[in-house]
Amino acid sequence: MNGKLAIIGGTGLYSMLGGFETLGREVVNTPFGEPSSPLVHVDCPAGELLFLARHGFTHRIPPHCINYRANLWALKEAGVDRIFAVNAVGSMREDCPPASLALPEQLIDYSWGREHSFFSDDQQPVVHVDFTHPYSETLRKTLIEAGKKAGLDLVQDAVYGCTQGPRLETAAEIRRLMRDGCDLVGMTGMPEAALARELEMDYVSIAVIANWAAGYHPGEISMEQIQAALQQGMGRVEQLLTQVLKG
Ligand code: HPA
Repeated sequence: MNGKLAIIGGTGLYSMLGGFETLGREVVNTPFGEPSSPLVHVDCPAGELLFLARHGFTHRIPPHCINYRANLWALKEAGVDRIFAVNAVGSMREDCPPASLALPEQLIDYSWGREHSFFSDDQQPVVHVDFTHPYSETLRKTLIEAGKKAGLDLVQDAVYGCTQGPRLETAAEIRRLMRDGCDLVGMTGMPEAALARELEMDYVSIAVIANWAAGYHPGEISMEQIQAALQQGMGRVEQLLTQVLKG
């Protein structure tokens, strides 16, 4: 692969960039509008890296309002061919407790009303991309190896369910997702993964478990607990990606 690497970061990952030299910030526009944030160019041993803040650097853009098409288009135009996406999730698996990391292997999309394809007008022939395996096996292997070196436990066979948000799910919705075979639930995994496939970029997701999904354990979901788990989990993401970026 000759292209650049990119990280699409969720909440609270910018600090990891401190370990590498920042070459500059680039404000870009696309035929689909503005991406969520400027592209931050970073120099690291594995090559040039671009960082995009999915929810924006200053204000938070909620999951259903993110311009996923602009984000992916901007990265493609900048020469990116491999994307490491970081996604916060709720967990329905005992071996994926809050603050741990998992690599989704499959996904089910329950989101709706989002601009989810670059083939949305009648100006081009219809293209049906293959999406049997939504995540890049090459990049999953890269992360599994890096995880071993960094001494991190990574569940490798999780199924990610993408809900619309921004509200969290009901207990019955989570029971339905579990019956469908989902292990994790998040709001940002789609259409991002499919758009990356349409643009022929390798894409992988690192899921950071923020909480037990609604009703999976007794009690309600507290924002304080989510924040604490995310802070710890993002520390682990930083360790994992630093290992990858060392080259
Ligand atoms: N559900 C959906 N998205 C999420 C959750 C959740 O429980 N936690 C973090 N992102």
